[in-house]
Amino acid sequence: MIKISPSVLAADLGHLADEIKRTSESGVDYVHLDIMDGHFVPNLTFGPDMVRFVNSATDLPLDVHLMISNPEEYLEIYVEAGADVLTVHFEAIDDSTKTLRTIRDLGVKSGLSISPNTPFDAAKTYISDADWLLVMSVHPGFAGQRFMAQSLKKIADARQFIDREKLRCEIAVDGGMDLTNGPRAAEAGADILAIGSSFYKSSDYAEYVRQLRQATAAIERDRQQAI
Ligand code: DX5
Ligand code: ZN
Repeated sequence: MIKISPSVLAADLGHLADEIKRTSESGVDYVHLDIMDGHFVPNLTFGPDMVRFVNSATDLPLDVHLMISNPEEYLEIYVEAGADVLTVHFEAIDDSTKTLRTIRDLGVKSGLSISPNTPFDAAKTYISDADWLLVMSVHPGFAGQRFMAQSLKKIADARQFIDREKLRCEIAVDGGMDLTNGPRAAEAGADILAIGSSFYKSSDYAEYVRQLRQATAAIERDRQQAI
């Protein structure tokens, strides 16, 4: 079943506790937290204290997406704050193998994210050390951007490679996802959808989850049969 990870950046931050409660009750699988440093990306969001708060407000695992320079220096802090999956950007690190192994050694899942301008081929050597590959379908930095359809090809390439090499890395997609392109991403091979604006703009989160799962169910059946 497709996994859903709502991106809190698009929630009503003035009512964060209530938003996290409603998110937790909606049937999703993770909570996605976007950490931006104003350096790796042209925007600033939140830090470890926010992760700590969200962790105290939900039983869902936290998927922490680090869009920061020198993420190696902050891995422990985010694991201590409550990250269950910790994702770093391929473009921000010098030694992907070492960084991904350090994340695993800290006891959480390791994630490697690739921005739209990074070809899958550049990162594929490191996939064996990653539990997640996070394919960005917008340029990282802001919620509410338009989904870039060329990411579907990247997802399909990653799916083919991971299946052929029998790796256990899951494929997540992040940016501009909604009820229409979410199923297309699932069809291309995505396992996890990080969804911000489309999820948080909906009036009933549980109903949103129902609709998304319904739209992806047939696609997933076809995918299983094809394997
Ligand atoms: C973009 C972030 C995304 C974003 C998702 O830099 O990594 O997680 O918040 O929000 P939407 O779905 O609105 O693009
Ligand atoms: Zn994100």
